[in-house]
Amino acid sequence: MNRLTNKHIILGVSGSISAYKAPDIVRRLQDLGAQVKVILTEGGAKFITELSLQSISKNKVHRNLWDEDAKLGMGHIELAKWADAILIAPASANTVANITLGKADDLLSNVILANDTPLLIAPAMNLKMYQSHALQDNLSTLVSRRIIIIKPESGKQACGDIGIGRLAEPSSIAKQVASQFISTKLTGKKVLITLGATIEAIDPVRFISNHSSGKMGMALVNTCLEMGASVTCIYGNITTTLNAKSNNISIISAQQMYTKVMDSITGQDIFIACAAVSDFSVKNSNNQKIKKDGQNLTLELIPNKDILADVCKLKEKPICMGFAAETQNILKNAQKKLKNKGCDVIILNDVSKADFGFNMDENEVVFLSRNLNKKIAKNSKQKVAKKILEIFIKECL
Ligand SMILES: Cc1cc2nc3c(=O)[nH]c(=O)nc-3n(C[C@H](O)[C@H](O)[C@H](O)COP(=O)(O)O)c2cc1C
Repeated sequence: MNRLTNKHIILGVSGSISAYKAPDIVRRLQDLGAQVKVILTEGGAKFITELSLQSISKNKVHRNLWDEDAKLGMGHIELAKWADAILIAPASANTVANITLGKADDLLSNVILANDTPLLIAPAMNLKMYQSHALQDNLSTLVSRRIIIIKPESGKQACGDIGIGRLAEPSSIAKQVASQFISTKLTGKKVLITLGATIEAIDPVRFISNHSSGKMGMALVNTCLEMGASVTCIYGNITTTLNAKSNNISIISAQQMYTKVMDSITGQDIFIACAAVSDFSVKNSNNQKIKKDGQNLTLELIPNKDILADVCKLKEKPICMGFAAETQNILKNAQKKLKNKGCDVIILNDVSKADFGFNMDENEVVFLSRNLNKKIAKNSKQKVAKKILEIFIKECL
């Protein structure tokens, strides 16, 4: 199973003789489905070339804190935001000491300070260096900060000594990274998620729809699956890829989505209404293509049934999360939606912004419940989905 699919891993390579194994680590992470970006320290670059790591990772290798090509010149923040986990392998004694002290004098140490994802460290060094009080004290401090230490192995070392300090096997390192993403937070839960845009026919060739891509909904599907849920995904028009592990049901119109949701809702623990459902459909849409005749054409629109509101009215209703895409009075409108529909959570999406939201890869939202109003900062939709679900689990389950 590719347990790192869609995951972004930063591999920090520091100045140990075993840095020659870094390309193999990149490969093993990729074999599990990860995308990998490498940060090479000055010490690391003495042992392995940037070109090797760039060729294998298929990404630019990052070495410089002072990166003028980065957005606003802040490459360290961009990299930290991109990562789902950071692995340092090999981690030199010097890098371990820098992290323990919280130093910020090169790119890797800055990214680590700005990071809020799992950090794994695989030390590799001569056995006396590994056994030194200083190194062991530093590792204990890092463990107390919930940093994961991937223990080195025993054996013949580059210097000729025999003992502990050899870098753990690349395949074992990759597996330990993957294990960070195994979660049982939603094991045993059934989740129904709607996503994408509905299409309301005007005639056989024309329709009314919207800009929804389904990317935010798919990020929620993927995250729920990773957390152990069994997921049903009812999707309209999307520009993203479905996950084969969910039960996927295709619909076109809002009416079809309504029917499929109501058919599938019994027994669901959680309902996430992320689809951009048309509020109106065309009354008496034409069976034949409407011909132009130089006259004005008036379409009569009739309101569609409100899927979320009707699910919330069910006697045995699941816990419900809705999305509110707003362009004005955004907080007030979302609070109204939360109250009027009787749902448990509203995720407020300000779709008036050009750089995130509809059809973009990034999003910035507000998590609204009766007791909570929490902004989730702009990040990839995958990361925003994870944050939404973590708060949701804490607040609602
Ligand atoms: C030939 C050679 C091999 C080295 N191997 C290691 C090693 O395996 N582990 C280690 O912690 N340091 C090793 N060092 C020392 C580090 O390279 C040195 O502490 C360096 O400053 C680390 O920089 P960095 O942590 O910024 O990458 C070695 C040094 C030399 C000259």
